[in-house]
Amino acid sequence: MCGIIGYIGSKRPEKILIEGLKKLEYRGYDSAGIALYNKEVQIIKSIGKISNLEEKINNEKLIDSNIGIAHTRWATHGEPSEINAHPHRIGHITLVHNGIIENAKELKEKLQNKGVKFNTSTDTEVIAALINYYYKDNMEKAIEEAISELKGSYALAIINDQEDKLYAVRCESPLILGIGDNEYFITSDIGAILNYTNKYVLLGQNEIVTLTKDSYNIVKEDTKVFRKVEVSNLSLEDTTLNGYDHYMMKEINEEPVLVDNLIKKYINNLDSLPDLNKYKNIHIVGCGSAYYAGMIGKNLFEEDGIKIEIDVASEYRYRNIIYDKDTLVILISQSGETADTIAAMRKANDNNIDTLAIVNVQSSTIERECTYSILIEAGKEIAVATTKAFILQVLVLSLLSYKINPDNKYLEDIKKLPQQLKVLLDKTGYYKKLADSIYKHEDVFFIGRKVDYAISMEGSLKLKEVSYIHSDSYQAGELKHGTISLVKEGTIVFAIVTDDEIRDKTISNLEEVISRGAKPIYVGNADVDYENKIIIPKIHKKLQPLLAVPPLQMIAYYVALKRGCDIDKPKNLAKSVTVE
Ligand code: G6P
Repeated sequence: MCGIIGYIGSKRPEKILIEGLKKLEYRGYDSAGIALYNKEVQIIKSIGKISNLEEKINNEKLIDSNIGIAHTRWATHGEPSEINAHPHRIGHITLVHNGIIENAKELKEKLQNKGVKFNTSTDTEVIAALINYYYKDNMEKAIEEAISELKGSYALAIINDQEDKLYAVRCESPLILGIGDNEYFITSDIGAILNYTNKYVLLGQNEIVTLTKDSYNIVKEDTKVFRKVEVSNLSLEDTTLNGYDHYMMKEINEEPVLVDNLIKKYINNLDSLPDLNKYKNIHIVGCGSAYYAGMIGKNLFEEDGIKIEIDVASEYRYRNIIYDKDTLVILISQSGETADTIAAMRKANDNNIDTLAIVNVQSSTIERECTYSILIEAGKEIAVATTKAFILQVLVLSLLSYKINPDNKYLEDIKKLPQQLKVLLDKTGYYKKLADSIYKHEDVFFIGRKVDYAISMEGSLKLKEVSYIHSDSYQAGELKHGTISLVKEGTIVFAIVTDDEIRDKTISNLEEVISRGAKPIYVGNADVDYENKIIIPKIHKKLQPLLAVPPLQMIAYYVALKRGCDIDKPKNLAKSVTVE
């Protein structure tokens, strides 16, 4: 995880780097640091959020420089502390790192035997030591020799205190080179530099970039590499709050427009979507919310008569999967950079199985390496807890299912969807009222069957990740096989009931918990007598989850707000999980 940014040009870098780190904070936020260079290196670090680092920087006398690197951390090796925060410096080399070095321990021992002294418990310091060890007078050579010994993942921005240059290299972890007017940037994410440029170059594995104020050069194994300059389709507006207090609320409110855009793009142009009819088996793989979107997809495709298997990527990658031919593996990922999902994709690719990416980030690893890819076009999602990307992932799955099995009712209903979403999202007063009745609870349960179970999984995850209330989701029929023992007077139970065929069954299960003291919150498309209920419009079955999830996102938001949580950056999490 972690976010890195580097700058070289004619401006002072500190403001650019701090601004950039704030945009990268979603990648990790337990500590941060910056290094400035002008003949000497000045390093400033702080634990906690970027605002702490900013305050520290504002109170220090800074060297006058035009070169700098910075980092925001999600700790893997070593606790979050100032000493373990990046940048790390050994000898001439100062660097920031995103990734994990798996053989750090062996390399450290090897270097210690040669007399190198280490100050931190990080794997990153080992990389600095290794480059410094190999550096004689040629940095590119030293980097090349060092990375040839590294096992694991890395994106690095590197300063050598002997040179007015900035270096970068990556393997597995994302890193791009931003091209400005007589200035260059190195960053984990284009969103961090959009204030300055939307032009960028994607860097391949182990390509070494050397930047001066007015030139860039990319080499791999002594050979010059030429790469196309790309233009990002993200706008600056995507990366600002635009009047909202939190990105989560801003992003939920973007759902109607984004859904409308995607429907308009595909509904009369289904040929541009891959045809799943030719596959006899589909495997769906993802992590977190992307996996729950996949669970909704499983329900859709099963109804279409396709054999489905679904798993979280961290399990799928290590399972002994017997692939039949005519199998498609669908990889769902907002970032397109989740380490486990990448590994699952490569497993399928290595078995010559077709892969389909449903991703948000253009040119991300998953988008690039899958046989087919569909961009969900959510724009930048900044809140760590996904909302709009989840809805668009589900919409793509529903369009794919419609393509397998078209019918007129779907066509009629899909056009109503954006407006219906808008109306549902406008009921903020009601969601706040429900949040008032939830926020003091320690445990909340969600129940549902089939697709409603998938919806309840996402509702439960959203609530726990942003509000820190313990919450769990159960298949409605399974509750009585143990978990019902936890239900007591006043326990909140959300019941998701959108599927007509099993409505009565789920309602019976809800009655079982009500008779044991539970306080129900009903989310469904038929009116009921319960006091707390969210009635969503009745719409085609394949579209129903798209209306059931946004109210649950809203409730999670307002509960977190009442509890005073850090909504956009919940503790211990990171948006893009680029480690196993
Ligand atoms: C993290 C995020 C989740 C997300 C999951 C998968 O855990 O906090 O919100 O669903 O990663 O991320 P991806 O980018 O692959 O969708």
